Amino acid sequence: MINTKKLQIVLASNNPGKIREIQTLLPDYLIIPQSEFIQTEAEETGVTFVENALLKARHAAQHSHLPVLADDSGLAVDALNGEPGIYSARYAGQGASDKDNNDKLLLELAGVPFEDRTARFICVIVMLEHAADPVPLLAQGIWEGKILMHPQGANGFGYDPLFWVHGHDCSSAELPPEAKNTLSHRGKALRQLALMLQK
Ligand code: IMP
Repeated sequence: MINTKKLQIVLASNNPGKIREIQTLLPDYLIIPQSEFIQTEAEETGVTFVENALLKARHAAQHSHLPVLADDSGLAVDALNGEPGIYSARYAGQGASDKDNNDKLLLELAGVPFEDRTARFICVIVMLEHAADPVPLLAQGIWEGKILMHPQGANGFGYDPLFWVHGHDCSSAELPPEAKNTLSHRGKALRQLALMLQK
């Protein structure tokens, strides 16, 4: 049953991993996946995380008529000149699974020693009050790490099994969800956004 006491925010994503993390990080709001309103996804034609987050948010706002939050995120690997970057979700091709993308990443990094596998997760969050909102709220977060030689761990989603976490000496898929939320790019961006919303 929908709890009407909480402000409802539509999340412009169908990624269950993201939906879980964002609901945990914004407990004062009721996060509704965009699939409640639309089955189509926005075309991510931008060349930056900000542009793609705005495209996704506007698309969901046009169909839901509620405030919308969109996250565009990805992994930037130094040895690959910042790839897969904005193409992280479709690195191994349109419709690629997390495993396909992880396999491709390992292949591209074959022969690169661990010390040169520096990388970071980037997250940009956009919030629109409505589709024509001329003043979107914007927040971003970055999480530094390295790419492991083999996948480790079963938590999280996406590239988590390959992302080695500084100071914890494990992959982000081996962190309990609360620990990942404390450290992650998405956690940092959402805490910034939550502060803006309080104001
Ligand atoms: P988006 O849904 O277009 O923003 O694609 C983001 C992609 O980046 C995801 O599908 C994952 O492959 C990757 N990604 C973003 N955030 C994370 C994370 O927290 N853990 C692992 N992979 C992530």
